[in-house]
Amino acid sequence: MKGIVLAGGTGSRLHPATLAVNKQLVPVYDKPMIYYPVSVLMQAGIDEILIISTPDDLYNYVSLFGNGSGFGLTMSYAVQPYPEGLAQAFIIGRDFVGEDSVALVLGDNIFFGAGLHDMLARTRSRPSGATIFAYAVDDPERYGVVTLDATGRPVHLAEKPALPQSRWAVTGLYFYDNRVLDIAAGIKPSARGELEITDINEAYLRAGDLHVECMSRGYTWLDMGTHDSLLEAGEFVRTIQKRQGQLVAGLEEIAFQQGFISLAELSERGAALGKTDYGRKLLAIAAEQA
Ligand code: G1P
Repeated sequence: MKGIVLAGGTGSRLHPATLAVNKQLVPVYDKPMIYYPVSVLMQAGIDEILIISTPDDLYNYVSLFGNGSGFGLTMSYAVQPYPEGLAQAFIIGRDFVGEDSVALVLGDNIFFGAGLHDMLARTRSRPSGATIFAYAVDDPERYGVVTLDATGRPVHLAEKPALPQSRWAVTGLYFYDNRVLDIAAGIKPSARGELEITDINEAYLRAGDLHVECMSRGYTWLDMGTHDSLLEAGEFVRTIQKRQGQLVAGLEEIAFQQGFISLAELSERGAALGKTDYGRKLLAIAAEQA
C-alpha cells in the first residue's frame, strides 16, 4: 500500500502566519504539522509516501524529509499547481500509486488515540473497497458528513451540508483500493469548483464498498484551520508529551517500532537532535531497547 500526504493550499485562514510558509510546515508544539499525518501512515505500516504541495513550497518538504531514509521511508514529491480539490491527489499521484492500494491523509489533520493502531490494522486488512473515519463533532456543517444506519453502515454522504443529517464528520484520512484512480479521473468539479473527495466516497457508497470506522470518545481528531485551533493542537501535544513522557508523532520511534530503521539509526537520530526533548526521548527509547 502507498500513502499520499496532501500539503497544499494557501493557508489563507492562518494568514499572516502562513504568508511565507506553507501551513503544514508550521510547528505544532515541537515538530512540523506534517509529522502528525505522516505518523498515521507509518502506524498503518506504510513506508512509500508521496508528498503533494504547491510549486513554491515543495522544496521545503524535500529539505525536511529528503529521500525519507532517515525515517526508513521512501519519499516522493509532486507539485499541485493549483488547489483544485482533494481528489486531485489521485490524478497527480496516479503513477506513484501504480497498481497498489493507497491511503490519503490531509497534511493538517492530527489523530490520536490508543485504539488507532488496531483500527489502522483492521482497515489495512480489508482486501477491497474504501474506508473512511468518522468523528462526532459539534459543527458537522464544516465537514463532509456521513449518516450511518442502526448497524453502523453508511447510508448517506454530504459535503459541508447546511443541515447535516448526523454529527459524524468525515476526517481527513481515507483508504482506497486501486479503483480510486479511475474514479478520481472521472469526477467533475463541484459547485465550489473542486474535485471533491466526497464524490469519490459516494462512488464507493453506491457500489456498497464503503466502510466507516467510527472514532469514539477515546480518540482525538484535530484539524488546524484557525489560529486558535492551531494553538490548541500545540497545547494538546505538549500536555500529552509532558504528562506521559511519550512523543506524539515521534517519527523515528514509529519507524523503529515498524522495523523501518535499526536501533543504531534510532540512536543516531536521537543524538543529532540531542539538544531537544524530542531527541532525548529518542535516545531514551533506544537505551530501553538496547
Ligand atoms: C475537506 C473535505 C471534507 C473533510 C475535511 C476534513 O474539507 O472536503 O469532506 O471533512 O477535509 O478535514 P476542506 O479542508 O476542503 O474544507
